[in-house]
Amino acid sequence: MKATAIAPANIAFIKYWGKKDDDLRLPLNSSFSMNLSGAVTRTTVEFSPDYCKDTVELVGETFSTKEQERVAKSLDAIRTVAQISEHARVVTKNTFPKGAGAAASASGFAALTVAAFAAAGVAVAEKEMTVFARLGSGSACRSIPDGFVLWEEGNSSDSSFAYSLYPHTYWDIRDLLVIVDSGMKKVATSDGMKTIMTSPRFSRRLSAVGGRLTRMNIAMKEKNFAAFGAITEEDCLDMHTVMQSQVPPLMYWNDMTRVVMDAVVAWRNEGLPVYFTIDAGPNIHVLCEPYSQAIILKKLNMLTGVQTVIINTPAPGTQISEDHLF
Ligand code: PMV
Repeated sequence: MKATAIAPANIAFIKYWGKKDDDLRLPLNSSFSMNLSGAVTRTTVEFSPDYCKDTVELVGETFSTKEQERVAKSLDAIRTVAQISEHARVVTKNTFPKGAGAAASASGFAALTVAAFAAAGVAVAEKEMTVFARLGSGSACRSIPDGFVLWEEGNSSDSSFAYSLYPHTYWDIRDLLVIVDSGMKKVATSDGMKTIMTSPRFSRRLSAVGGRLTRMNIAMKEKNFAAFGAITEEDCLDMHTVMQSQVPPLMYWNDMTRVVMDAVVAWRNEGLPVYFTIDAGPNIHVLCEPYSQAIILKKLNMLTGVQTVIINTPAPGTQISEDHLF
């Protein structure tokens, strides 16, 4: 009763911020993302009568009690479906820093869900798998299907699921994830989202997101990089405007975030097609096409304060692996 899954993190181009149901993690709006090849979680789950409690180990890092409880809650839901009672040993390993806005919870809960169902010997359809992953961490549902993924907001647990709009081979967009701070973010997304209603900007964002998704669909269909990049930046800045106008304000950026954002805009004004997006942390995703990757990478590495750059291509969804961690 042991299985391993590898899941990519994902970056949302149209973002999810705010829930209409906290327990079910039903989002206020649909979102759209790309799986990331260079930011991956591998997780091995084993259910056994030899274990007297669930244990969760993150190789090279630590898990807080709250995080362990979230994992145990997901395992409980899976045990109920699988009709098993054995406790589990979970070992997990990331290729990127946890909690730094690089969506480790997305890849983490996607890998956990797929590995745990496989370890329990239960075959689950992709749609249902995304629903279970969502219950662990909202954006985790987008790490399960292939490539470019839409998460339908839905209005019930079953209708809030994710599916692939285009496979990872559809369009070679590069995401250069610029790490400027690899520490834990100050406010967890689930806490930050709880006060979204305090922002006077939140209803304006919600009424804009639908139209933005439609424009994004057209940009994707036409592979129009300039339109894609402009819509992505617009949505990122809109989400951060909401975050920064919440009470208390959520400032996820630091000085280096601003430096990289300004540099991207300056390079674009010089004629380079390059755009940015930022999640709930200080690190920046710099988006470009393959032909300009080398020059942009060189420019990024010349900025003082850039720690590392993780190069991502569009990636498949969560996969089963035979390479176990224990
Ligand atoms: O699923 P969570 O709780 O990690 O929230 C993700 C929120 C953002 O990363 C800020 C936006 C998104 O859609 O990924």
